[in-house]
Amino acid sequence: MTDATTPALERALHHARAHLETLDTQPVAARADLATLRARLGVPWTDAGVPAVQVVDDLVAATAGGHHASAGGRFFGWVIGGALPAALAADWLTSTWDQNAGLYACGPAAAVTEEVCGAWLKDLFDLPAHASFALTTGCQLAHVTALAAARHAVLEAAGWDVEQEGLFGAPRVRIIVNEDRHGSVDRAVRQLGFGRASLQIVPLDPDGRLGAASLAQALAVGSGPTIVVLQAGDLHLGACDDYEALIPLAKAAGAWVHVDGAFGLWAKASPRRAHLMRGIEAADSWATDGHKWLNVPYDSGLAFVRDAAAHLAAMTLSASYLAPGGDARDQIDFTPEFSRRARGFAIYAALRELGRSGLADLIDRCCDHAAALAHGIAALPGAELIAGPGLNQAMVRFRDPREGAGEADHALRTNAVIAAINAGGEAFFSPSVWRGRRGMRISVSNWRTDERDVARAVETVRGVLAA
Ligand SMILES: Cc1ncc(COP(=O)(O)O)c(C=O)c1O
Repeated sequence: MTDATTPALERALHHARAHLETLDTQPVAARADLATLRARLGVPWTDAGVPAVQVVDDLVAATAGGHHASAGGRFFGWVIGGALPAALAADWLTSTWDQNAGLYACGPAAAVTEEVCGAWLKDLFDLPAHASFALTTGCQLAHVTALAAARHAVLEAAGWDVEQEGLFGAPRVRIIVNEDRHGSVDRAVRQLGFGRASLQIVPLDPDGRLGAASLAQALAVGSGPTIVVLQAGDLHLGACDDYEALIPLAKAAGAWVHVDGAFGLWAKASPRRAHLMRGIEAADSWATDGHKWLNVPYDSGLAFVRDAAAHLAAMTLSASYLAPGGDARDQIDFTPEFSRRARGFAIYAALRELGRSGLADLIDRCCDHAAALAHGIAALPGAELIAGPGLNQAMVRFRDPREGAGEADHALRTNAVIAAINAGGEAFFSPSVWRGRRGMRISVSNWRTDERDVARAVETVRGVLAA
């Protein structure tokens, strides 16, 4: 018997196919502007409902041109990732099954799938088997989760029960971070009540890594409960800290070490690049994303915590009407959310589809394509490499050819070139500023990107520069 949802799902499949099967030919950048999208979507919400099939068709029509073709291989902005076939299909099923993945009792298969994902990923990243983990919305909430565990542990060591007493009157926690850290670290720090004043900001070495001498100096100028945040994959040049040197230093000072490995941690999966992560397993907590380099659909983040007791203490929840899973793992004890999506299915599917060698290959391909793009573009007249390539990241900029042109002119020229590339629809890049210089980021994190995409993008940039 046909279910009431089947016609709408069939329309969704039809539209999904139309989107995916034209990724190679549609403009990469969204081309519908803000006013158009508002006008199309902002129809009166009617008293009477609309048949489901029409809702789906209308949604597709109203948003047409309002999506970047970031599912395709020529989208190089930010670190957006892609969606592997099995992961996308599993994500559809996740919505179909519609489990509340907070408790084993609410979704037994969802709970066990997450359990398996946690075990596979700890093994992949070489993290301690006893470490706890949480599947979160993204790396932002992975930071919050891991740093909540850190807050618990460092304050407990100082004789303060933060879960009971809160932060009012607590010993001040200092958080040592690098000058180029991702903004999500700062927001986690604010959300956890530490405040910006807790940040002790350390300059980076010219290679974008935190120097051992700089960290030693920072550790020496303060005292008390301390958290050190290290970086696995900086977003401009993919820089990875020297964990073998830094983590023992931080540990010797009694600090909790947290790693922002939103995308960089996945380098561990590649035998060619795992050396960049050497020593990282000695940290206390790690945050990363599934929706970036693992290529599962949004939203998908991962937190791992060495001290499972601290993690549990920071996150656990019990209520009279909840049914704890006994032997089973209740996700609610580890995540910042209550009700939540069953994020494990897509991660499980991605890991199974790729296998170990497929994942290694995905990481290596993206890095190789990023390097080819960076060198290919930097070799064009008027272009120059300003950072990287490292991992799957690099920065280039475009110089204003006029005699006497200064930094501000190069920044304007760079903005104009990026705008022209994106407007052309053949490739998409996003801008950023590194060491005071405006540049175009090159970031490759989609399983679909191949040599043809790289060549097409370089030719596009060549054409824009020659125009
Ligand atoms: C280095 C780094 N850390 C953290 C984040 C935050 O991750 P998410 O957007 O998944 O919350 C990002 C996202 O771009 C990132 O690049």
